[in-house]
Amino acid sequence: MDNQQDSIGMIEWFRASTSYINTHRGKVFVVLLSGEALADKNLSKVVYDLTLLHSLGVKLVLVHGARPQISAALENSGKNSSYHRNIRITEAECIETVTRVVGGESARLEALFSMGISNSPMQGSDVRLCRGNFVTAKPVGIHDGIDYQYTGKVRKIRATAIQQQLDQNNIVLLSNLGYSLTGEVFNLSAEEVATEASVALQADKLILMIPQAGVLDDTGSLIASLSEEDARFYADKLAKLDEESQCISRALDASLRAYSNKVHRSHLISFKENGALIRELFTRQGNGTLISSDSFENLRIATIEDVAGILKLIKPLEENGSLVERSRELLETEIDNFKIVELEDSVIACAALYPIGEEFAEIACIAIDHSFQKNGYGDRLLSSLESQAKTAGIKTIFVLTTVASHWFLGKGFVEAELSDLPEHRQELYNYQRKSKVLLKKL
Ligand SMILES: CC(C)(COP(=O)(O)OP(=O)(O)OC[C@H]1O[C@@H](n2cnc3c(N)ncnc32)[C@H](O)[C@@H]1OP(=O)(O)O)[C@@H](O)C(=O)NCCC(=O)NCCS
Repeated sequence: MDNQQDSIGMIEWFRASTSYINTHRGKVFVVLLSGEALADKNLSKVVYDLTLLHSLGVKLVLVHGARPQISAALENSGKNSSYHRNIRITEAECIETVTRVVGGESARLEALFSMGISNSPMQGSDVRLCRGNFVTAKPVGIHDGIDYQYTGKVRKIRATAIQQQLDQNNIVLLSNLGYSLTGEVFNLSAEEVATEASVALQADKLILMIPQAGVLDDTGSLIASLSEEDARFYADKLAKLDEESQCISRALDASLRAYSNKVHRSHLISFKENGALIRELFTRQGNGTLISSDSFENLRIATIEDVAGILKLIKPLEENGSLVERSRELLETEIDNFKIVELEDSVIACAALYPIGEEFAEIACIAIDHSFQKNGYGDRLLSSLESQAKTAGIKTIFVLTTVASHWFLGKGFVEAELSDLPEHRQELYNYQRKSKVLLKKL
């Protein structure tokens, strides 16, 4: 029976993932695998999951680093790295070791992707990885009188050449090595290569594999999505802490830089946790931290200045009976419960979350301007309110709706009885509207 339950659960999940599979197909994802990720025992599982993404038609550019491996090799050969402003100085006598270590790590990854043992997820995958001189480098130069020598910066990413490889169904593998016009090899930061590659390709996603489930708040809870301001706050805070935190800080810096260059969705996902990548990309609840344009650009908590815009947006929907009427006074009192999407100074979408007790919260007044419907704004607002509720420890969200029940059913809500709601909310139920009750466990 348990086995049957498991298999039904699996079938349901597989079916539910269809929309994600369709959304991701043909998209370009740049994925950073830091040296720490390459050293982790979960690496082979991450490779399985990347192979799965490739099989589903995602165009992958992988960028690997080798920071801890380089440090260990230099130490073994008695050459201690010196740092200035937290950046390694790669002396002339070290660049050979760096090249050897990074080349070895690239080859190891290639080997993992070439596995095809029967009864493993790699069987029949036939993945082709492609490496080349796709990254042109330049020296960091001399700062404060310190010459960084063979530590470099990205000068150019050959985006067209990479795109050609992707179009031929190859996975492109980049590393933290770049080649200069003078024919020298430079040691780069893998985070910078990943960011610049995502910008040059205008990738659909930048995925940064990190040693933690995502960015955690002060209570240790996972933050599902971050605004630009909060991402900066955490990047600065984590930069001052231990090595693991610094790794996350570098990932946040990379996502912020990608964002300011129009790569609007970066995910920070654990490389330690089995299947974290799949959960983040193929389930609604996700499993990592998303830094996206939704949280940056125009989806934000409403303020009293937005009341007029919200009233204008909801008036026609109140008139046709889709929404319950709200007076200006009521809206002003409850404005803190609202989130809006703003476009060129107009409110084009809104939704509200009303916590009821410690366990429940009601989603209400979700409305998208008619000319902006079917653009995913409803979905983004609902996701944002859901993660807000989750962070607040809410266990169940519910909605009362007369016309949009199918939309909510598509978002994982299920039909429920009035008696499933908190008593206080049952008493306020308007029997004339005959709204359907839908709820969702978080
Ligand atoms: C329902 C609503 C919030 C959806 O917002 P949206 O931004 O258009 O939704 P999304 O872009 O995320 O999703 C669009 C999909 O939902 C479907 N959809 C929209 N309204 C729907 C409804 N009432 N019932 C079922 N599906 C609906 C669309 O057909 C579209 O499907 P497709 O992707 O197969 O083409 C929006 O249509 C709206 O504001 N409606 C009027 C107000 C309302 O009824 N609010 C609910 C009060 S509880």
